[in-house]
Amino acid sequence: MEFDFENRILDPEEIPEDIDVDNPLRPKTLSEYIGQDKVKENLAVFIEAAKIRGESLDHVLLYGPPGLGKTTLSVIIANEMGFNIRITSGPAIEKPGDLAAILTNLNDGDVLFIDEIHRLPRTVEEILYPAMEDFSIDIITGKGQMAASYHLPLPKFTLIGATTRAGQLSAPLRDRFGVVLRLSLYSPEELSKIVLRSSNILGIKIDLDGALEIASRSRGTPRIANRLLKRVRDFAQVETGGIVTFNIAKKALDKLEIDELGLDSNDRRMLEAMIKFYKGGPVGIETLAAAIGEEAVTIEDVYEPYLMQIGFISRTPRGRIVNQSAYLHLGIEYKNL
Ligand code: ADE
Repeated sequence: MEFDFENRILDPEEIPEDIDVDNPLRPKTLSEYIGQDKVKENLAVFIEAAKIRGESLDHVLLYGPPGLGKTTLSVIIANEMGFNIRITSGPAIEKPGDLAAILTNLNDGDVLFIDEIHRLPRTVEEILYPAMEDFSIDIITGKGQMAASYHLPLPKFTLIGATTRAGQLSAPLRDRFGVVLRLSLYSPEELSKIVLRSSNILGIKIDLDGALEIASRSRGTPRIANRLLKRVRDFAQVETGGIVTFNIAKKALDKLEIDELGLDSNDRRMLEAMIKFYKGGPVGIETLAAAIGEEAVTIEDVYEPYLMQIGFISRTPRGRIVNQSAYLHLGIEYKNL
């Protein structure tokens, strides 16, 4: 079945801005989706079982760093179940009435995707509990003597919540998800397959080494790999008639100041600040954030996961520390005091 993105999104106003639903690079079925093998295997079973029982899928929580395909996976889940998806985000739902309006407009089996679900206002979260558990909500209208309470049954929908920080979800919300899946950073091999697939879709000529070079500098993140592919293509078009080879990829990525490990100037700036101002740590996240003029959440969500994955920094109870391998990479002498 071909997925018709347009008719499944009811209100463009509420689509978070980084969700480009028409992006042709987004895979539309589980079999097209590269990587996250354990997540895919389990999801395939849950989807198949729900279909055999003729039921809607249990509520799903997807968590992990940004850019790994949480939205893509949600659209795939709806597609594989054969139902519509409604996409919104935590900060976009300001009042309980906003959520009530969305929920009462769903049909049986539909998927409601809430991105950044950890940012739902408390008052909204509270009406989500009975909605998830009993498929009903209680709405109070009017004030004082005019107040009236209505018990509204809801369709048997599936909530898919996505978050970069599962730890920030309240326990009552977390406990109401029957399926909890963690997405992890992709390997360079998986990312190179994604780069080759995207090149094929975009009509970019690329060789295997070119794809691997882009992949190995993409910080384990498909969104970054696809972005870098487009930038490298620009260099290839101007310099070698359009074919992305290892040499062109290397040259373009060097020009973009993305090093062999995928670190960009922000990563290096943070590591250098930790070394220069705090002797490599331990340094608290808020202190570090203030020192480099970033939000603590950006450090935690965007910079840290990859730097921890490659062993450049570690978290300790007293704060973050820079490890010896990072000094080596940056060409700074390591003094273990
Ligand atoms: N594009 C972005 N993420 C992808 C994935 N996991 N598989 C295939 N294509 C992708």
